[in-house]
Amino acid sequence: MKIKMIDFKIMGDERGSLIALEEHHNVPFDVKRIYYIFGTKKDVRRGYHAHRDLKQLAICISGSCKFLLDDGKNKQHIELNSPTHGLLIEGLIWREMYDFSDNCVLMVLADNYYTANDYIRDYEQFLQESLK
Ligand code: TYD
Repeated sequence: MKIKMIDFKIMGDERGSLIALEEHHNVPFDVKRIYYIFGTKKDVRRGYHAHRDLKQLAICISGSCKFLLDDGKNKQHIELNSPTHGLLIEGLIWREMYDFSDNCVLMVLADNYYTANDYIRDYEQFLQESLK
């Protein structure tokens, strides 16, 4: 499955911690878009889509949440619970996000602008395209 965890270097001192994200350094793509999900209500599950051609790096900068990742053959559950690492998702992968903590802020960097056509929102369609 085309996913990878990236650990970020923490620049810490007696005041606390700082992480810097830089395209083509610790973010392995052009960053065209950043969005974040917050204030997620209890028991909400969201996502339910795959992208045809998009690279994304998801970082839980506050709190925690879980990802279900599915490439059509294998499924994997990953918890993000630290601002010190990010989940890189490339290729055709169905994703669902769930178990958001009250204080969760899930930030996502993407290598392209929002394009509705890039989304596959139907699971059967995703399975068909993932077999190609
Ligand atoms: P949606 O795709 O439903 O979020 P999720 O995949 O997390 O369930 O997005 C919610 C709304 O926000 C939907 O109307 C599309 C819009 N949106 C943008 O306009 N730009 C973006 O970058 C994203 C991710 C969503």
